[in-house]
Amino acid sequence: MPNSQTTSPPSSISIIRPDDWHLHVRDGAGLKSVVPFTASQCGRAIIMPNLTPPVTTTEQASSYRQAIFDAIDKNSNFQPLMTLYLTDTTPPEEIETAVDSGIVSAVKLYPAGATTNSDAGVTDIKKCYQTLEMMQKLGLPLLVHGEVTHQDIDIFDREKKFIDQRLVSLVKDFPELKVVFEHITTSDAADFVIQSSSYVAATITAHHLLMNRNDMLVGGIKPHHYCLPILKRETHREALIRAAISGNNKFFMGTDSAPHSKHNKETACGCAGMFTAFAAIELYAEAFDNADALDKLEQFSSLNGPLFYGLEANSDKITLQREKWTVPDAFDFGDDVVIPLRAGQTINWKITS
Ligand code: NCD
Ligand code: ZN
Ligand code: ZN
Repeated sequence: MPNSQTTSPPSSISIIRPDDWHLHVRDGAGLKSVVPFTASQCGRAIIMPNLTPPVTTTEQASSYRQAIFDAIDKNSNFQPLMTLYLTDTTPPEEIETAVDSGIVSAVKLYPAGATTNSDAGVTDIKKCYQTLEMMQKLGLPLLVHGEVTHQDIDIFDREKKFIDQRLVSLVKDFPELKVVFEHITTSDAADFVIQSSSYVAATITAHHLLMNRNDMLVGGIKPHHYCLPILKRETHREALIRAAISGNNKFFMGTDSAPHSKHNKETACGCAGMFTAFAAIELYAEAFDNADALDKLEQFSSLNGPLFYGLEANSDKITLQREKWTVPDAFDFGDDVVIPLRAGQTINWKITS
């Protein structure tokens, strides 16, 4: 029973069905394994385009969208919101095609070399200015992996440097381009978003709200806690929590659930990414609960995202119960397995309906 009269914490909450504004579902057999988790929790999800080869055209986005529908229950109401992968040569006409299609919700900027499958990404944002001009004109948001990639920039400073060296001038040059600073990990990024115009927003992952870099590096190296942008120090995690629970509508849920097979994670040169989609809203509920801010969860998970993207909130609700459950050691992932966040450990919240 929800309990607002006393100080004892609620044992269950009902919220408008959430959306995931940053999600990797991969393709092929892996897609079939992971996308049903999101389809069962979320009304919609922004589908990241960093496949091999990347999803650079509306035509590719359309067939990827069909593959997603083919991988979920026919009766599901889940809507995948597709994105295009921006390259140095994405023509402005492709933006018009994308908007006309009605199936493309945003364009994703990966600085070349910044993260998984970003080799075809942008080498110099100036090369994209005509395309960004068209996006600004047509109201198509730009989603940004905000890290610089120079070898000489420390990995823990790459987000802050991206703000100073790239983002400040980008939002100045395109003041009415909708920009989502994806998966922010620092107080610098949270401050930048707060101080920017209403055209600038950010997603925050559950794992960056729940963990700091000690969780990756103390007591042995934890490859399943390695993601990009990398986990930061505790003061940054605290700043992200403050932003997420602030009620500021610029911050919304984006899990960045990024499954990689066990053998691609547990190796000498492991891939970046955590698999969280199997318990997305439960992990956020835990983070908000830890901050005594469960009453702020719905706005973050279910209202702020649609508001920024110009969509209606979902019309149905989900209920979460305070109930400890043990996460499986692994989930199927195509012919392989993926190790989920909290494998073999517990999560404090569970969806009941
Ligand atoms: C993502 C992936 O594996 O696709 N990895 C990650 O660590 N977040 C890519 C990304 O979102 O940067
Ligand atoms: Zn990214
Ligand atoms: Zn991502």
